[in-house]
Amino acid sequence: MVTDENRLELRINTEYIMQYLKGKLFLITIVLCNIIKPVSAQDSKIIKPTDVWPDNNGNHVQAHGGGIIKVKNTYYWYGEERAKDLDTNKRYVSCYSSKDLVSWTFKGDVVKMTDPDNLGPKWILERPKVYYNEKSEKYVMYFHLDNKTYKAAKVGIAISDTPDGDFKYLKSFRPLNHESRDIGQFIDDDGSAYLIFEDRPNGFHIAKLSDDYLSVEKEICLIPAHMEGGAVVHYNGLYYAIGSALTGWNANPNKYATSVSLAGPWSEFKDIAPPETKTYGSQSTMILKVVGSKKTTVIFMADIWKPKTQWDSRYLWMPLELGDGKLWLPKPQPWELNIKTGEWKYLAD
Ligand code: GAL
Repeated sequence: MVTDENRLELRINTEYIMQYLKGKLFLITIVLCNIIKPVSAQDSKIIKPTDVWPDNNGNHVQAHGGGIIKVKNTYYWYGEERAKDLDTNKRYVSCYSSKDLVSWTFKGDVVKMTDPDNLGPKWILERPKVYYNEKSEKYVMYFHLDNKTYKAAKVGIAISDTPDGDFKYLKSFRPLNHESRDIGQFIDDDGSAYLIFEDRPNGFHIAKLSDDYLSVEKEICLIPAHMEGGAVVHYNGLYYAIGSALTGWNANPNKYATSVSLAGPWSEFKDIAPPETKTYGSQSTMILKVVGSKKTTVIFMADIWKPKTQWDSRYLWMPLELGDGKLWLPKPQPWELNIKTGEWKYLAD
């Protein structure tokens, strides 16, 4: 017989079970939310060198051999788009935007080009760099343009009215009639724009762009050193140039030289990191100066190439230790950047 006492007991038990299940459900929800939390949201402003770098869609950033410009308060990162499923006849340059250099929004492939110059199968478009020309209000992209044996050794130019494209192909040429393979970009504190290019017979050129940036106007310096992945920064009254040796996709000990003037004379080249680490497996692409309200931080930006799985090539970005003519790349480890103050610290601190 079911008594009132039994009914009460049953109700209490049912309530207890419901509460228990609710609690469990709550826990399961929390666990699931954490598991499926989009990887895109890099929670804090942490840069994790060598890791996969998720963009706003959760995809690894595809901006290899890249370069960065700042327009007002926005940074744009352009680079080689090397995703898996691309049309192999075309070459692609991606564009990402960010306010803090950590969370990147994919703005699309701003170049999707078919062979512009009869270069033939497996033609090359590498190391795109974009300059903003204030007079013409155009975004001018330079890139290394080549055939599969790297014998054409030219630069190409494409232009756009907006930072996120589309960029239209304009022309190709050999800068100052020299061979040009890896290119780098340098914009001085006074806004002057330079192209750095590697010329196999002669060395490392730093050349000034014309007023409209559509041609390479004048040689500023030829450093007779065979260096590629060229990058320059102007810091505390001194120019620092970084380059890598010519070892293709394989890493090597990158080196730096200094000079009071861009035109030289430049010091001898010295290691930027313990040479046995081969720049911690990376190759320079750019040096970015972040001038904050409290500190100026100079970031070494490099590629960790994975030639057989290029889409998975990684980035090594670390703040450089530099001053008084010395430059040193610390061991890669996670670090946090405050884009407003320019201050940074290691995550472990
Ligand atoms: C490297 C160069 C890369 C790419 C590669 C091809 O030396 O820095 O951008 O051209 O060679 O082997």
